Formats: sequence, structure tokens, C-alpha cells
Amino acid sequence: MTQAANSVRDGFTTSFGVLVATLGSAVGLGNIWKFPSLTGSNGGAGFLLVYLLATLLVGLPVMIAETMLGRAARANAVSTFERVAPRRQWWWPVIGWMGFAAALLILSFYSEVAGWVYAYIFKALAGELATTDPQVAGAIFAGLVADPLASLGWQWLVLGVTGSIVMLGVAKGIEAVTRKLMPLLFILLLVLCARSLSLPGAAQGLSFLFSPDLAKITPAVLLTALGLAFFKLSIGMGCMLTYGSYFRDNQNIPATATRVMFADLSVSLLAGMAIFPAVFAFGFEPAAGPSLVFMTIPAVFTAMPGGTVFMSIFFILTAIASVGAMLSLLEVPVAILAERYALGRKRASLYTILAVAVLGAPAALSSSLTSEIKLFGMNPFELFDFLSSNILLPLGGILICVFVGWVYGLPEMTRQLGNHGELRNQRLIRLVFFLIRYVAPLSIAAVLLHGLKIF
Ligand code: PHE
Repeated sequence: MTQAANSVRDGFTTSFGVLVATLGSAVGLGNIWKFPSLTGSNGGAGFLLVYLLATLLVGLPVMIAETMLGRAARANAVSTFERVAPRRQWWWPVIGWMGFAAALLILSFYSEVAGWVYAYIFKALAGELATTDPQVAGAIFAGLVADPLASLGWQWLVLGVTGSIVMLGVAKGIEAVTRKLMPLLFILLLVLCARSLSLPGAAQGLSFLFSPDLAKITPAVLLTALGLAFFKLSIGMGCMLTYGSYFRDNQNIPATATRVMFADLSVSLLAGMAIFPAVFAFGFEPAAGPSLVFMTIPAVFTAMPGGTVFMSIFFILTAIASVGAMLSLLEVPVAILAERYALGRKRASLYTILAVAVLGAPAALSSSLTSEIKLFGMNPFELFDFLSSNILLPLGGILICVFVGWVYGLPEMTRQLGNHGELRNQRLIRLVFFLIRYVAPLSIAAVLLHGLKIF
């Protein structure tokens, strides 16, 4: 009774709201920017195959487990482990703090890529992107990222927009915004795909995406695919845990997670089918890396009737998709700060945004002022991405699996995922539990150690 604040804790208000907000977190630049560029630079279909396996066998079970913990505790990522860990063992909340760090690292480079997308909206509207020539497209992108002031300016704009929405709260901010925007994104991607698939090089693009060459699957490729599976489903860093704490009591967690996983996968595949045919039709380099999307998308639209309009809408929607994901990234530190230090939501959001602006500056300047600062051969942008996606998220994933599989246990998991006897899903829960206890942690550990060349 002493904690009046607990009884009015903010949360999602409808089942549809839960679905779109969670989907809004999963769908983002990961689908439209990271998935195509990683698939392109890691050999195509073989990478896609490993990514699919990682998503089904590791990603989905971890997503279910994470969401479950959050809803059981109804607290932020750190406090959740304090509440659900037996005998208040101090080390479990460390998982939440790792998530705090991962969120800030991801936001640092994510906000920059989102900034490029915002900038491209204006370039598209001004007709500056009307080219199918890889050289010209490359020069436009290089011009943008090499300008330090523009890089920082766009990043700050993105942080300002997303920070203001998070300040409004979970139901009035996050849920209200994602509800309106997610359906639109799907429709536009379908249009884009139809256009790209009717290009002359479409078949070659599709075979790059769908005919695997197993020789290209190296340990490093495995680790990258696993990292992408975590990044895509927003797991391993307390994000789904935090969103789970806003889920309704009668929400069917395994069903919601499965729907989100499939919808997210479809968006990635649609983005791939929109991009790779164009890559081959216009002679772009599939392994171009982070710049790939920014060069091929304009080419897909140019020479199509109404191309400028569609191109602009596409970048607007990508910007929107990035907002949904950033809201969930911000929510991890914001919930921790607001609930643990009684800061209030507004101040917690402000501090988080400021921290990201500081940490994000070296990432934003990675193609200009900080391009020579390298650690393990990576500039700050690449380093933040590598550290978070390929190390912190899988590591967080292992710890969550160990916690749920070996400490939390099957009986409690059955109660939580069965909504206290309301759902008849015991078999499914046993399967998820088996994956969480053995399959997921062992495969993550093997891929992580092998990929980092530790054994
Ligand atoms: N899933 C988001 C995307 O694919 C990124 C993200 C990662 C969001 C981790 C939250 C947590 O764009």
C-alpha cells in the first residue's frame, strides 16, 4: 500500500496495442538497413539460412522468456531480477545493467543511421536522389556522412523527436504512435517489392537471397547472424523484459511473440526482395555494407512513374520504423532511471537522451573526425555496433537462458506462460523450456566463443 505509484503503473491498454508496440520495437532499421547490408556482405542465402535457424531456435524462446520475466515482475530490467531471483542473489540484476549499457551503445549508432534516413527524406523531396548510377548514388551518401555538422545535427533531431514521444508515456506516447504507423509501413513495403521484382535483374537478386552456398558460412558469419537475430527481436538486453512489464495479464505471451517474430521476418524478407533485385539490375555492389540501402532504394524508385513521391514516402516510413524501435531502446534506461531513482519520466528521458548524444557523437563522426580512431580495426560506429550486437546481446541472452532454465524453473514458467492455468499450452511451454535450458545457451556459447576465435 505504501507504493501508490505501483498501482497506477503505466502500461499498454489493449491487446492490439501490445502487439503493435512490440512489433514496433522489433521492426526498424534492423530490417530495412541492417538485414540487407549484412546479408549482402556475408554471402546472401547461406547467411539468411543461419539467421532463420538462430531466430527460431534461440531468438523466439529467449523473447518469450524475457517478456515473461518482465510481466511476472512488472518492473524495469534491473528491478525485475531483484524481484524474481531467489534469495536476492545480487548478481542477477547485473543482466539488467548490461542491458542498460547495450541500449545506450545501440542508440548511439542507431540514432545516426536514423539521422541519415531523415536527411534522405529531404533529399528525396528535393529530387536530389534521382539516379540509378552507383557512382553518383555513392557520392551523395559519402557527402552526407563526411559532413560532421550535418551528422551531429541529424542525430540530435532524431533524439529530440524520439525523446519527446517517450516523455509522453507508454500508453499515450509509445502505444498511440506505433498503432498508427505500423500498418502503413507494411503497405508501402509491398509496393516497393512489386516494383523491384519487375526489374530486369530480379531473378539474379532472388537467387542471391534464396540459394544458399554453404561454403560461405564461416564462424564469423555465424556470430553475425546470431547477433542479427538478437538485434532484430530486440532481445538479450532487457528491452522485451521492459515491454513485457507493460503487457496485460491475460496477454498470451508465446502467441504474441510468435506473431511478432513472423511479422518481423516478413518485413526483412520484403526489404531484401525490394533491394537485391535492384542491386543486380543496376550494378550495385551487394557487399557495400551500411551504405547499401541508401544507394539502391533511390535507384529502385528513379525511373518509376511518381518515383520522387514514392521515394519520399519510403524514407518517411523508414524513419517511422526507426522511431518505434528507438522508443523501445530508450525505454530500457528510462524505466530503470525513473523507477529506481524516483526521477520522474521526463527527467529520466532527458538524462538518457543527453547520455546518448554524448556517447553517440563519436559514432556520428565516424566517417569524418573520428574515422582514424580505431580499436580492433573498427571505428567508433563499427565498434559500438559490434560490441552491442555481437557481444552484449548474445551474452545477455545466455544469462537470461541460464536464469530461466536453471533458476526460475519449469513450474513457475508454466504458471506464468499459461496465465495461471487460463491457457492450455503446457506442451508448448515444455518445448520452449527445453530450448531455453539446453539448446539456446549452448548454441549461443558455441557461436560466441568460436566467432571470437576463443576456441
Ligand atoms: N529490433 C530493432 C530493429 O531491428 C532494434 C532494436 C534492438 C530495438 C534492440 C530494441 C532493442 O531495428
